[in-house]
Amino acid sequence: MELKTSAKDPFKIKTACLILGAWEKGFSTPLLSKLDQTMQGALQKAVRSGEFGGKQGEVLILHSPSELQAQKVLLVGVGPRNQLDLEQLRRAAGRALGALIGQRLSQVVCALPLLEIPQTGAAARVQATVEGSLLSGYRFTRYQSHKAQQQTILPKGMTLLVERPNELEQAEQAISSTTQICRAVSLARDLVNEPGNVKSPSWLADQARAAAAEGEFNCTVIGRQDLARDGFGALLGVAQGSEREPCLILLEHQGGPADQAPIALVGKGVVFDAGGISLKPAEKMDEMKMDMAGGAAVIGTLLAAGLLKLPINLIGVIPAVENLPSGSAIRPGDILTSLSGKTIEVLNTDAEGRLILADALTYVKRFAPRLVVDLATLTGACVIALGQHASAVLGNDQSLVRQLIKAGEGCGERLWQLPLWSEYDQQIKSDVADLKNTGGRPAGTITAAAFLKPFAEGIKWAHIDIAGTAWNDKPGPYSCKGGTGVGVRLLLAYLQSIAQPRR
Ligand code: BES
Ligand code: MN
Ligand code: ZN
Repeated sequence: MELKTSAKDPFKIKTACLILGAWEKGFSTPLLSKLDQTMQGALQKAVRSGEFGGKQGEVLILHSPSELQAQKVLLVGVGPRNQLDLEQLRRAAGRALGALIGQRLSQVVCALPLLEIPQTGAAARVQATVEGSLLSGYRFTRYQSHKAQQQTILPKGMTLLVERPNELEQAEQAISSTTQICRAVSLARDLVNEPGNVKSPSWLADQARAAAAEGEFNCTVIGRQDLARDGFGALLGVAQGSEREPCLILLEHQGGPADQAPIALVGKGVVFDAGGISLKPAEKMDEMKMDMAGGAAVIGTLLAAGLLKLPINLIGVIPAVENLPSGSAIRPGDILTSLSGKTIEVLNTDAEGRLILADALTYVKRFAPRLVVDLATLTGACVIALGQHASAVLGNDQSLVRQLIKAGEGCGERLWQLPLWSEYDQQIKSDVADLKNTGGRPAGTITAAAFLKPFAEGIKWAHIDIAGTAWNDKPGPYSCKGGTGVGVRLLLAYLQSIAQPRR
């Protein structure tokens, strides 16, 4: 979908479809009143008959009389006026474009950025509208033979309206940067949706290399031999049940001064998690191809950072392994020596994510990072605690956690903090090693983070558990079933907030 912007009167542009936002029970705005007049009260009738009430995501399509420049008008509800924020706008845009999918429209006009939202500029409203619109058109069609029909699902072009001509420039900028952000989110979704038979650790490394070429940053892949030589014992322990060679993917974006300490992003890259010898139940095991969603988010974030030329130094680290049961797999009770030297008693081979993250966190310390954020589909307990509407965040630096939460609120990828009190450390003390890799059922998300904490000692660190948010089992307002690409927009919002503090 080609995007452009205009400050013209919405009723004076020729278009296949004019998209207008409507507040819940708020139909007396100048735009809607004018629409109703031209259409001989069609809107009022629809409202009175209960066909349309302006509830979030509700859609009403009106076919226009000839005096209107638009062939039809799509009204989308944005919910109550006093609750309208950027996320409501994003969702409404997603629903609106979702309703047009498959209609093969040429040029549509979208007036959603004209809606007033306190403390937002035109750029932010255009960004949210574009995010909702583009992301709602994402589908994973690579393996479908009728994909040709499905590919042209969004309208060919969309014109986003702003109020004043002096807002056009920032709106255009927002369009171009948001298009790149959505490209990165789509890549992350693609990586997550790819099936396990294709998605080996080295395949993931190839994808990371391709992203690095596109975003013009560096990619280095460390293979099994080097990992063994350097002592990545925890990572290799997880990998030893699979015939596929593990690797550690290192991405480096150099956007700031050479002497500036980088921000490190670490993403769990378990390409398939069968649980190992502590085998998972068969039901829904297929979904465990998404266990590299943290890694996908890191690759996507680096891609966007590269495309946007973010003025900041960044490194991304993705430990990539497969967790399978086999004659060579680790057993419950095995003791691994991690890269840090700390020994780990593996009581459950299905708690593999924390093992590979432990070595990855130790590894990033070599880069003397300013801070590190890790993302991982780490615990089923997180799905129980927060469901699919928020990721959990924990960390050893409250101001970092706070900034991440703020970034999440702005971009619609919400975070909810869980405590990381030292009392929880008791649960991961081992009788025979320095640590054990499970803390029992109570507070599973917290004890997983408590396990990671010693490996991040000495650096500012936040851990984000995306187990509940990385995968949709039903479509959302701007995402289809499958991988959501969660983390990309969150990390970018955070990075942009520190790269340009006053935006
Ligand atoms: N990848 C899973 C966590 C997960 C579960 C992600 C559901 C997404 C949806 C992780 O490796 C895992 O198996 N965790 C165990 C830990 C337990 C054995 C301590 C879990 O949560 O059951
Ligand atoms: Mn597991
Ligand atoms: Zn896992």
